[in-house]
Amino acid sequence: MSPVLCRHDQPHLDAIAAHSVDWCGRDLDVVQWAKTPSGAEHHAWIDESGGSVIRLTPGRRARNGHTAVVDLVASPDAPTVDLLRVVTGFADQWTALERLELAVPADHAVIASALGLDFVVEVRQDDRYGGGRDGLVLGRLRPGFRPRAPAPAPSWPNRESVQPPPLPPWRFRPIEVHDAEAIRSLSVEPTVLFGTLQSPSSGVDFYADRNLKPRPGDFSGVLDIGGEVAGMGGLHPSGVGGVRILGMAVAHAWQGRGVGRHLLGMLLDAARSLATRRVELNVFEDNSRAIALYESAGFRVEGARRYDAIRAGGHATSLDMALIEPSS
Ligand SMILES: CC(C)(COP(=O)(O)OP(=O)(O)OC[C@H]1O[C@@H](n2cnc3c(N)ncnc32)[C@H](O)[C@@H]1OP(=O)(O)O)[C@@H](O)C(=O)NCCC(=O)NCCS
Repeated sequence: MSPVLCRHDQPHLDAIAAHSVDWCGRDLDVVQWAKTPSGAEHHAWIDESGGSVIRLTPGRRARNGHTAVVDLVASPDAPTVDLLRVVTGFADQWTALERLELAVPADHAVIASALGLDFVVEVRQDDRYGGGRDGLVLGRLRPGFRPRAPAPAPSWPNRESVQPPPLPPWRFRPIEVHDAEAIRSLSVEPTVLFGTLQSPSSGVDFYADRNLKPRPGDFSGVLDIGGEVAGMGGLHPSGVGGVRILGMAVAHAWQGRGVGRHLLGMLLDAARSLATRRVELNVFEDNSRAIALYESAGFRVEGARRYDAIRAGGHATSLDMALIEPSS
């Protein structure tokens, strides 16, 4: 049994941190892992030799609390099956987690161990780590897990009944604190709850706080049409150099009128100016209109994360889509 990570393991973490990008393709902030006690926000173990660490972080949102991300920092050929077995055993015996997710470069030896512990390859990510290094996302459902079907999509605005007007003057601008009320109304509309991970329990203060504290490296804004927030979108850091995660939503009253296509175009322009080599996003498999929009812009489906979100009383599966080298 691998020991639980403790503060006195800090020297090991300092040594492991120096290899994180090389081993895992991304800069995992391992040095911090022992600073938050294992058992609080995350659960972490170190192998007997002190050469590899693993961490389990449960989803923090209402709609993904049944899932957890597994982060592993180990050399590509390290024997990691024991660390992985500790994590899966802990999840199955001591938690309510239904789904675990592990993202690693496609050449990592942990993949063989994971496949032996009921993980399946769900997503193949083209050139995710740069220099032609692909990535894999492996997902594991709790043995015996029985998904519930979510309710179908709410009705979308009928495009034929909407005269496509020439858009009035509009601009993409940074989010301001006073936008919280408009962002909340947009976010809790049934079609946006259907298409995103927003929660109807989130109040204005939640959105105001989030607008005040953007994550480092975050590029987000609202689409302002004549002073009205018609949509919002952003490019968020992925932890991997040159890779950004795209998210967007259009207010119900503006859907089906060309706003989403404009917004996506602006976000892809921003991605290019930020020297992004890969834009990725996550979309529910039954969100056909969003999928059609992304496919028409060149995004390609890379796989499906099984039952990774709660939606309308059931478990929904999302697709990973990516656009390599976004060009105009
Ligand atoms: C998905 C969404 C962003 C699209 O924006 P939009 O402004 O409604 O879409 P547009 O009017 O710009 O249309 C763009 C494309 O979307 C698709 N689309 C839009 N409305 C559609 C509808 N009612 N039925 C089918 N396809 C539709 C079409 O492919 C369309 O391209 P086309 O006009 O060349 O046929 C928007 O509807 C939305 O915010 N939905 C709720 C939140 C969400 O799902 N966000 C995406 C998370 S991944």
